[in-house]
Amino acid sequence: MAIKDQLNSIKEAAKKAIKEAQSMVELNDVKAKFLGKKSAFNDIMKSMKDLSKEERPVVGKETNLAKRDIQTWIDDKRQELHDLEVAKQIEEETVDVTMPGKEFHPGTTHLLTQITDEIEDVFIGMGYEVMEGPEMEIDEYNFEKLNLPKDHPARDMQDTFYINDTVLLRTHTSPVQVRTMLEKGGKEPVKIICPGKVYRRDEDDATHSHQFMQIEGLVVDKDTTMADLKGTLLVIAREMFGQNREIRLRPSYFPFTEPSVEVDVSCHNCNGAGCHICKQTGWIEVLGAGMVNNNVLEASGYDSTVYQGFAFGVGVERIAMLKYKINDIRQFYTNDLRFNKQFKS
Ligand code: PHE
Repeated sequence: MAIKDQLNSIKEAAKKAIKEAQSMVELNDVKAKFLGKKSAFNDIMKSMKDLSKEERPVVGKETNLAKRDIQTWIDDKRQELHDLEVAKQIEEETVDVTMPGKEFHPGTTHLLTQITDEIEDVFIGMGYEVMEGPEMEIDEYNFEKLNLPKDHPARDMQDTFYINDTVLLRTHTSPVQVRTMLEKGGKEPVKIICPGKVYRRDEDDATHSHQFMQIEGLVVDKDTTMADLKGTLLVIAREMFGQNREIRLRPSYFPFTEPSVEVDVSCHNCNGAGCHICKQTGWIEVLGAGMVNNNVLEASGYDSTVYQGFAFGVGVERIAMLKYKINDIRQFYTNDLRFNKQFKS
């Protein structure tokens, strides 16, 4: 029968096209072509009206069988393509566990930051507040309110970068203490430390830098004595250089404190026996301190007959250099990773 041949040739063509389909998209096109509205089967269905009553159901059945076959082949092919895709994906996504990993370099905290953090922690533990202030400061807070009027010779102790007549780069973090005292309005007690960068017109060399870090402390209250200062200094010395350290106070001069002292710590390298670090003396000078000068208290609104205070200041670089035997202060500022990485926090 001609129609049977026709069906067979459609089936053959479909079989071939399905076999050759390379992707789901191509397979869908094949399906549309052979099973869609405009397929060759539709032409056969249309020509059914010309057939005899007996032939019609036979042809109808054959056509449906042919379509079912094609659908089955398409389903099989779809599964095959899907399997291939999965296999390909697995292949592509394999992880080669023997490959060397990507190197990841975590940063380290700078040594100066580490030491600052450590000292801050100790003071926070003793109830101090950490205060910060601007590096660009006015003369009034950096000098005048600290008992250093305009022509005071002690201004030479801190050679200054001036921006203009009244503005400068702070030479110490003491102006933060002034700011805090003014804020408290001469009424409340003060217990703060002030870490930060300071600037001085020094020629840079192995032990001098025009910019360095300081931590200063200030306590103002109604019954503050030199004994409180001494106890506090001993705590800092031991935190920084070990629990066996002792301290020694020598009379000194700062305009903002009276009396003023220079604080020596027994040498952490030789335990006081004498070595090259302590220049054979057994002692190393590390801090400046004293009882807050009455003029300083009064200038920031504190009644000096009611309030007393003590203050101290320490250079962070100096501590780091002593502790880790660093012989050139410039090492802190060059961002040389070989240096920085030696101090993993
Ligand atoms: N402000 C002083 C300085 O920078 C340090 C210091 C602070 C000394 C407090 C005594 C008391 O040199």
